[in-house]
Amino acid sequence: MNILVCGGAGYIGSHVVRQLQKKGYEVLVLDNLINGHLSAVDGVPFVKADITDKQALQEVFSRNSIDAVMHFAAFSIVGESMSKPGLYYRNNVLGTLNLLEAMRENKVSKLIFSSTAAVYGEPEEIPICEEHRTKPTNPYGATKLAVEEMLNWFNHAYGLNYVSLRYFNAAGADESGDIGEDHNPETHLIPLVLKTALGVLPEIKIFGTDYPTPDGTCLRDYIHVNDLADAHIMGLQSLSGGGQSTIFNLGNGNGFSVKEIIETARKVTGKPIQAVETDRRTGDPAVLVASSEKIKQELGWQPRYGDIEQIISSAWRWHQRNFN
Ligand SMILES: NC(=O)c1ccc[n+]([C@@H]2O[C@H](COP(=O)([O-])OP(=O)(O)OC[C@H]3O[C@@H](n4cnc5c(N)ncnc54)[C@H](O)[C@@H]3O)[C@@H](O)[C@H]2O)c1
Repeated sequence: MNILVCGGAGYIGSHVVRQLQKKGYEVLVLDNLINGHLSAVDGVPFVKADITDKQALQEVFSRNSIDAVMHFAAFSIVGESMSKPGLYYRNNVLGTLNLLEAMRENKVSKLIFSSTAAVYGEPEEIPICEEHRTKPTNPYGATKLAVEEMLNWFNHAYGLNYVSLRYFNAAGADESGDIGEDHNPETHLIPLVLKTALGVLPEIKIFGTDYPTPDGTCLRDYIHVNDLADAHIMGLQSLSGGGQSTIFNLGNGNGFSVKEIIETARKVTGKPIQAVETDRRTGDPAVLVASSEKIKQELGWQPRYGDIEQIISSAWRWHQRNFN
């Protein structure tokens, strides 16, 4: 099978590309490199293109034989989406609409989509399952929910089959240590903590210590990027075998607090890691933990990296190599 991976030069996409190749799939990466790294897809067939450019997408589809699409290309910084909602709607919604239309015109009917826990907004129940009401509290989550709605209607009208994966916090790096998380600016906790361990950053800020959690700091669900990759391939196999279009949550099912992450990182790195306690940020829910029972039951997915120390160790290997 030939898989077009949009946004494949980014953090999660590049890990999925590697797993796809290991399983014998042919891969073509499409990325505009606005946030991606060509070095993350070294030796992989690559086309530099932007999904907001309809003409460029059409050319990619007409020049290549594509059986299915995996779609990671999006902007995903919550704070930026609050100040620049138009940028997020254009890139994430309009870009995806272009992609869906190119798929329809070229009779490609299978899509795996990167959605997010941000579609739920402030949770009413923990763990969060797929039936939990969706009420995003920022434009980023709203754009992903808008795409899920588009997918539903494209499925009804044109038979486009999809699996939408709502990731919680992607973390860790490939065991090889040669690909990993490298966002600029970085907003995710584990890479920020590891950059502090390396001395790239002077300190890590803890936003709020008075949440209703055991140690007062926010609890999040961290899922290893290669566990995400497994789920993408299982989703693709399901669609190829005639499986229904659907939505799955993807998390570890365990919540770790900000303080627990910092403490584990101190253990893994052997570095003191200076932490500074400061006020809460607006809009941070106290606890975000996924129920991933649906994908476990329906596709037999199981996380291979359940242990937070293992996840941080894999990220540390990459950080030492990339940022030293
Ligand atoms: N990292 C997480 O914890 C997380 C959690 C939930 C959901 N997601 C979603 O997963 C996907 C991948 O996340 P990531 O952390 O790997 O992000 P990333 O920024 O590392 O990767 C996204 C890639 O898409 C490319 N891209 C962006 N806009 C494009 C466009 N218009 N045309 C072509 N390429 C474009 C970027 O250059 C980048 O390589 C995103 O859709 C994100 O919303 C990520």
